[in-house]
Amino acid sequence: MEMNYETHIGDGFLYKETTDNVSENWPPFLQRAWGHKKIAPIYSSLVSPLGDTVAYMTRFPYSCRFGQAVIEVEGIGGFATLPQFRRQGHASRLMAVVLKKAAERVPVIFLHGIDSFYGSFGFTPVAPERTLCFSASAVAEIPLLPNTFLREMDSRDYERVCSLYNEQHSGRPLSAVRFPEAFSGPMPRGDWHPGEEGIILESSDRLRAYAIVQSTTHGRDPFFLVKEAVAANPQAAKELLGVLGQMAQRAGVGKVEMFEPRDSILGRALLNFGGKNEEKYRPDGGWMGKILNRDALVALLTDELNRRSLQPQAEAIQDLASGAFFSNDELLLGLLLGFRSWLDARDIGELSPTSYRDLVKEWFPITGTEALPLPYLHHLDRY
Ligand SMILES: CC(C)(COP(=O)(O)OP(=O)(O)OC[C@H]1O[C@@H](n2cnc3c(N)ncnc32)[C@H](O)[C@@H]1OP(=O)(O)O)[C@@H](O)C(=O)NCCC(=O)NCCS
Repeated sequence: MEMNYETHIGDGFLYKETTDNVSENWPPFLQRAWGHKKIAPIYSSLVSPLGDTVAYMTRFPYSCRFGQAVIEVEGIGGFATLPQFRRQGHASRLMAVVLKKAAERVPVIFLHGIDSFYGSFGFTPVAPERTLCFSASAVAEIPLLPNTFLREMDSRDYERVCSLYNEQHSGRPLSAVRFPEAFSGPMPRGDWHPGEEGIILESSDRLRAYAIVQSTTHGRDPFFLVKEAVAANPQAAKELLGVLGQMAQRAGVGKVEMFEPRDSILGRALLNFGGKNEEKYRPDGGWMGKILNRDALVALLTDELNRRSLQPQAEAIQDLASGAFFSNDELLLGLLLGFRSWLDARDIGELSPTSYRDLVKEWFPITGTEALPLPYLHHLDRY
């Protein structure tokens, strides 16, 4: 553990930052979600005038995609005030310093938030909770092609699993590139949770599809969740759905819930079998973000904005950076990530000035297309 920084922040409080580059030292949940991202978490804590550590959080520096641009951002996780010190303003105190410190490094910060808490710090939702739901019986009869084999995933598959994932998802806003050398695969069974199972579909040693599923039949209502599933092509997607349908039936579950976006190969295949895309838009909670430095963010995304418009738009970009239009940072972040489109901007009366109307349609179209996939944060990457 390496001490980075320590500073007095007034009223006798001390703010501390340490980093840890050795992923083996991290708590298991961090190793699993972030070990393969090659990041070094920053532990931030607040010490009271009496010397007690009263609140803490972990910050994750990582790369995030906005369209085709990849920029360095931070994520916040594991934010807590120790129970005996709650409701005394410690979380707010810590967050205020963290936002200031993070703004020195990155233009945007993200987190997965509980409802009605982070909104007060200026965080805004940036992605709905998306799942694809389907009935096991609608797909269970789909057969495997004669040369396709189904087997359990093991660590020898991680390289190919990561490369299939990266090929299909790493170009998507909010999805992060995976590094196979540190990918931890399905979570093993624990004392209180059922663990996950990885399955592979292959033919002549070629990976055609994989899935990571979680199910249980005891203790509570049976459930069957597909935490992640990727197929190399539409035929492999159909076969994988068949396998998942059969597994769900064996687990006694009729309705399967799959955490995948609808614009992936698998998502598109599923919509042909009666699958339903379900989206929960939490007004204050879920995946949230906050712009820390608007100027820097717009500067980093200038090439991306110019890629989307027919001609480079230096003046409009300057006006965007200065807040002359879309002065609302929360709306702007949603637009830049593709969570919102020009239609949302119009509906909330923010589509001005008139001279930029056509440009705004080019910059912020409805996403879910090949050129601009839907923003999506995979279940295995949640911190
Ligand atoms: C949530 C948590 C960090 C708040 O810590 P805290 O030090 O008590 O918070 P503060 O005293 O600084 O309060 C900050 C604001 O949040 C509000 N707040 C505090 N706890 C809240 C809760 N559980 N739900 C909603 N709002 C809450 C306070 O009313 C205050 O708002 P106000 O300034 O408008 O009155 C703390 O309750 C905690 O550690 N909870 C368990 C872990 C957790 O849920 N972490 C967040 C995971 S995303």
